[in-house]
Amino acid sequence: MALYSEKVMDHFRNPRNVGTMENADGIGEVGNAKCGDIMKIYLKIDNDIITDVKFETFGCGSAIASSSMATELIKGKPVSEALALTNRAVVEALDGLPPHKIHCSVLAEEAIKSALKDYYDKNGIAYDKKLFPDCEHCDHCCGT
Ligand code: FES
Repeated sequence: MALYSEKVMDHFRNPRNVGTMENADGIGEVGNAKCGDIMKIYLKIDNDIITDVKFETFGCGSAIASSSMATELIKGKPVSEALALTNRAVVEALDGLPPHKIHCSVLAEEAIKSALKDYYDKNGIAYDKKLFPDCEHCDHCCGT
């Protein structure tokens, strides 16, 4: 069996929503303490809907595929749905990742959460602090 699914290869070779964004409503950047990779997410939010999203990843192929899929999953969705996106949902949408690459998908989830927190902070929107665990690495999620 191939190590990577066709969907992973497709999103790695043709990543969706790559780039930066001027006047983003929320920007999130996270790094993985173990591999040193970095992911940055830009959100445009209009009336509580994520109307546009862009990402930059200085990371591995799985990180690129995960962030590409994650941006597709939240584009056009309400903020509440983006907040609820888990790395597991990203992995499922990619038809799986090898176990030692699960942490790459965690980076995508955390970057989106970080961008949403930035949006809340910039706009003075109150939120439950528990939504955003103060964590710059993925050990709490999957321990990989
Ligand atoms: Fe670092 Fe994949 S190995 S994000």
